[in-house]
Amino acid sequence: MEKFKTELYKVDYKLIQENNIDELKKISTVKKAAGLIKQGQLVAFPTETVYGLGADATNEAAVKKIYQAKGRPQDNPLIVHIASFEQLKGVVQGELSSLVKIMADKFWPGPLTVIFSKTGMIPYRTTAGLDSVAVRMPSHPLSRALIEVAGVPIAAPSANKSGAPSPTLASHVMNDLAGKIPLILDGGPARVGVESTVVDLRGDKIKILRPGGVSREDIIELLNSDKLSNRLSDLKNIKMSIKKGGKSKPAIDTDRPISPGMKYRHYSPETPLFIIENEQDLKDIIASGLDLDKGIVLSDETYEKYKPQLDDMYVIKMGSRKRPETVAAKLFELLRNLDTLSLKSVYIEAIPERGIGEAVMNRLYKASSRE
Ligand code: TXA
Ligand code: MG
Repeated sequence: MEKFKTELYKVDYKLIQENNIDELKKISTVKKAAGLIKQGQLVAFPTETVYGLGADATNEAAVKKIYQAKGRPQDNPLIVHIASFEQLKGVVQGELSSLVKIMADKFWPGPLTVIFSKTGMIPYRTTAGLDSVAVRMPSHPLSRALIEVAGVPIAAPSANKSGAPSPTLASHVMNDLAGKIPLILDGGPARVGVESTVVDLRGDKIKILRPGGVSREDIIELLNSDKLSNRLSDLKNIKMSIKKGGKSKPAIDTDRPISPGMKYRHYSPETPLFIIENEQDLKDIIASGLDLDKGIVLSDETYEKYKPQLDDMYVIKMGSRKRPETVAAKLFELLRNLDTLSLKSVYIEAIPERGIGEAVMNRLYKASSRE
């Protein structure tokens, strides 16, 4: 594998906050990044979910480098990032269904990835041999500027080494991929903090293959809006499909995961992590008195409630149970930081699987050690 002196370039944060795509496109390092992509090299860049490791999705040799740099299993397909519906046409086959149009209308640009039939423009290396392709239109202005200047769809998995928590800061990417890629664009912390929701909308139903930044409740709310009944012939059926069988735990435990990537152990800190599933278990753990070589990660509410009993314990706070978005935003940073604490093991409180809490718990189950 080629070696690089990895350059980290901090992009003017003001332009990002102002969503100023036009000015971002003029920055010389953004042009350089787009040039590297066009030449078949890799560039790490921020999206609103997590940082991605990008390559020209239409260039087989470039895509191969993603797998090498990450140490990613060959059978785990990549998400193709686009900046416009014009670009979507080149990547996917056939007309878009009403359901796809409605979902894209509402959630694009944003943290939703949709599975389509691929065209010949997308090599099998990108889709790990599948005839389908996962596509997402990110909302982060820097992702959009990069894709627009490059002029090609960008294949990008999360920019971590395979198995590690996804990066939500440029420094996480540097820790994992220094020397393996030429350039990291630093756009500050990723806002959402967990990856996109992957949905399969073929067959006029909604299957969530991976819970993520767009929650099940967000989708149900869309389906409940008045205007849809005349645009979707089978609205009732679609609503049923999104409501039932939705628990993330069984979905990730299945022997035949629908999203190939879901079968791998993921997001794992080196420190063994155990989930505290309910309040009784929490009480038992607290009563047993944890030694200081073990950590316990608690919500603000639980911390306040049990404060007097936590005196001699190593407590880490994760934010409020009532605001799962804030837990999600800091989740991977928290998991990465655990490994700097030299703890023998860590217990972490489960949060309700509502809203983005479903994605948070999905990642925690994947990160945890189970007997
Ligand atoms: O938010 C995100 O989605 C981030 C940012 C960078 O966009 N990307 C990301 O990519 O999380 P990655 O490679 O870490 O996860 C992609 C997921 C995997 O679970 C993969 O198996 C699934 O999407 N996937 C990709 N193509 C698929 C396909 N054709 N059919 C089913 N699942 C697919
Ligand atoms: Mg990943």
